[in-house]
Amino acid sequence: MRVVKVFKASKPFNLECSSIAPDKSISHRCVIFSLLSDKTSTIDNFLLGEDTLSSLYIAEQLGAKVKRDKSHIEITPNRGLIEPNDILDCGNAGTGMRLYAGLLSGVNGLFILTGDKYLRERPMGRVVKPLRDIGAKIDGRKNGSLAPLVIRGGKLKSFQYKSPIASAQVKSALILAGLRADSKSYYREDILSRDHTERMLNGMGADITFLKDGWLEIKPLKKPLKPLDIRVPADPSSGFFFAVASAITPNSSIILKNVTLNPTRVEAYRVLQEMGADIEFIEKENIYEPIGDISIKYNGELKAVTVSKNIAWLIDELPALSIAMAVAKGRSVVKNAKELRVKESDRISTILEGLNRCGIESVEREDGYDIIGGELKSATVNSYGDHRVAMSFAIAGVLTSMEIEDVACVDTSFPNFFEILSEISEIR
Ligand code: S3P
Repeated sequence: MRVVKVFKASKPFNLECSSIAPDKSISHRCVIFSLLSDKTSTIDNFLLGEDTLSSLYIAEQLGAKVKRDKSHIEITPNRGLIEPNDILDCGNAGTGMRLYAGLLSGVNGLFILTGDKYLRERPMGRVVKPLRDIGAKIDGRKNGSLAPLVIRGGKLKSFQYKSPIASAQVKSALILAGLRADSKSYYREDILSRDHTERMLNGMGADITFLKDGWLEIKPLKKPLKPLDIRVPADPSSGFFFAVASAITPNSSIILKNVTLNPTRVEAYRVLQEMGADIEFIEKENIYEPIGDISIKYNGELKAVTVSKNIAWLIDELPALSIAMAVAKGRSVVKNAKELRVKESDRISTILEGLNRCGIESVEREDGYDIIGGELKSATVNSYGDHRVAMSFAIAGVLTSMEIEDVACVDTSFPNFFEILSEISEIR
């Protein structure tokens, strides 16, 4: 088990950072959506994390030709996806598994999707059930609620589906299925989840329209889509670890360069701003979505905050935000965040256990928690194999030295995380 010690920063830092990991959600989609074209897609700054590389290997197993030079990749799909001669391993990636399930349900052939021991315990019924309802033949452990998933792809019916959860993975799986259905389909969610899928597929020529009454209309594809030509922006969820480091370290600041500023992705920065950090968004261009820099400066002690709205827009940042809450003045409250329990770990329990080891008091609820701000103490914390939990406590180490157990998982989304952190703190 890989263990890392992060030592308290000996001085303030002022960084400009151009090497935050490329966006994970967009990188997965680049690979999967390139399979809907008949021409070569060109992707720059692709995330070379384990999660997205798993998606890329699956694309190759499905017949795509992949040329790769560091983070520049070119994907030329096979005409029609081919039935692979082995299982498809999504690694730790929920996005990979759920999006591929949606895509492959409509493709002739047998496909078996599996993943690591964590992914095999995460809920898959949320995509399996609606896909079965439109004719997909899918099975899996516990009557299809757990991977491995066995898919016998074939014809799909159109649908009108109101999702009980705001999940971009479920939405994207259904959109991919809808593109192969026999006529127009409709999808609805109570709160808009991240919308990279709609933006990117429409940019490639698909017809996915957000109707005035809140339904998303998906027209089946008549012909292959245009290929992608994209430079993946930096991942705001990865950048957020360093945003928190700056917001809690006196006289420090960071500028995160070329990050996606998609509103469904930067809500956590707005919460950190509400807590008192000095944050500025500088929009520079628009490639499928707004992209620019985010500047974060320490601005005195943070104050407690209540987070209960737009949870889908900051779900991935709640572990790091919890570190900010732990050192803020007062009691912070997180509500309506039950989804945290089914992420790479049960994040409500893994975050609170870690904070408890650091001497921070909290109250746990089924759908959230309270954190009573105080003084973080050095401790040894286990990540439980969850990359975002590992990185959040590593950031806490900048304030008060920390030992983190089981950090290999960081490679799933942010392989150069410790390299950047070492510009702030000593690491052993
Ligand atoms: C993702 C969607 C979110 C997010 C995950 C990536 C995506 O999950 O937590 O890290 O790329 O679509 P849900 O859609 O399950 O909420």
